[in-house]
Amino acid sequence: MANFVPVECFDLIIFGGTGDLAMRKLLPALYHRDRDGQLTGDSRIIAASRGALTRDAYLAEVEASLRANLREGEFEAKGWRAFAERIHYFQADAFAHDAWSDLVSALAGFEDRVRIAYLATAPSLYGAIATGLRVNGLVNAGSRIVLEKPVGHDYASALAINDDVGRCFAEDRIYRIDHYLGKETVQNLLALRFANSLFEPLWRRGAVDHVQITVAEALGVGGRIEFYDKIGALRDMVQNHLLQLVCLVAMEPPSSLGHDSVRDEKMKVLRALRMIEGEAVRSRTVRGQYAAGAINGATVPAYAEELGNAGSTTETFVALKLEIDNWRWSNVPFYVRTGKRLHSKHSEIVVQFHEVPHSIFPEQKYNVQPNQLVIRLQPDEGVELTVMAKEPGPGGFELRPVSLNLSFEETFGIRYPDAYERLLIEVLRGNPALFMRRDEVETAWQWIDGIVAGWQEAGQKVESYVAGSWGPSGSSLLLDRDGRAWQADA
Ligand code: BG6
Repeated sequence: MANFVPVECFDLIIFGGTGDLAMRKLLPALYHRDRDGQLTGDSRIIAASRGALTRDAYLAEVEASLRANLREGEFEAKGWRAFAERIHYFQADAFAHDAWSDLVSALAGFEDRVRIAYLATAPSLYGAIATGLRVNGLVNAGSRIVLEKPVGHDYASALAINDDVGRCFAEDRIYRIDHYLGKETVQNLLALRFANSLFEPLWRRGAVDHVQITVAEALGVGGRIEFYDKIGALRDMVQNHLLQLVCLVAMEPPSSLGHDSVRDEKMKVLRALRMIEGEAVRSRTVRGQYAAGAINGATVPAYAEELGNAGSTTETFVALKLEIDNWRWSNVPFYVRTGKRLHSKHSEIVVQFHEVPHSIFPEQKYNVQPNQLVIRLQPDEGVELTVMAKEPGPGGFELRPVSLNLSFEETFGIRYPDAYERLLIEVLRGNPALFMRRDEVETAWQWIDGIVAGWQEAGQKVESYVAGSWGPSGSSLLLDRDGRAWQADA
């Protein structure tokens, strides 16, 4: 990372401190920021959770998890000892507010420093924890609260959570995380669109034929399978990550990077998304669930087998055709898809431009392919622009698509920081631009609820797909009907 400007001294309380998110993502991210000198003075990381644990026992868990989750060579004894000094542990049950006295005493006398509560727990606890902070007098003028996604499981539950938390914290103190907004390439999308004049005139109907967004995972659901079975891919991934990507691709240029400028533009896109309801779900949505298969040569069981319930109708894959009802994107479909146990971990945004209006290379006319801009989110983050070129040599024109290919890692030659490193620093600095505002979350849920209701009314089944493939055949058909194909599968 280019700059490691230290952040003001803080107390960061992580509720759900023993959980998977804290162990796998938050603490490794904080460790990196500490090693790069961004955490200053005696800033503290105060883990809180239901269980009774001594500080030493907690530190042993953190150390083991850092060793397991950091890349080779990143764990370093001296750095760990310094980081461990910052870490404390207190027992705090979300609902037993009068039993938070140890936590309250640890924070007494530190009212002047930046105080952040990070809720890395189930969303059903958000209201109770926010209330616990308020009734225990732990909310001060500078306090911020961070909510992990998902904020609720539908519009009604999101509204209730936002109301509960909103009674304790002002909206500008609430940071709703969507970690995709912390990914370097996602931010690079802003740089690509708004720090270059090249693309803007072409970034619209007339020049763009359609947009594809793929977020494919090779992994399955892992230890979260029971939770996931109640949620499915639409709510787990589309409501947040994919819709945020759609917003960043489709939004109008904001007037600044100021937090409300960007969020106002994203909101306009969410409002312009055509609802997919009723019968439209049949032609515009595909649901899939993985059957047994093989990924990278290793066999993997079916979702239903992993779950131990052959009757589950939860989707582990979803593909949608979206329409954005505004001038810029009229009649330019956005195809989005995401799924577990797909061919490989592969996420990208493809902006497909129109064919040339008239080919002057008649005998090669089928070779002239439309330009494509591919923004690769993972792996190998980068941007690739496909243009047609003439193959060298005499004897007529042989045309071939070639790539102007920018790999960020090769170009900048640095370790790519995890999204959480960036987002935690933004919270500590008090910059909410990369976080979701209440209206964004609620509007996204209303749109998702329409699809869920449509699925129920239409009795839309999940199509089976072989683990290790690119999803069910319905997903290819979704584009095939429009004379198109998914780029990544080619
Ligand atoms: C999370 C989802 O928000 O994002 C997970 O709940 C998913 O199901 C994960 O695996 C994907 O994140 P990334 O950064 O690995 O693409």
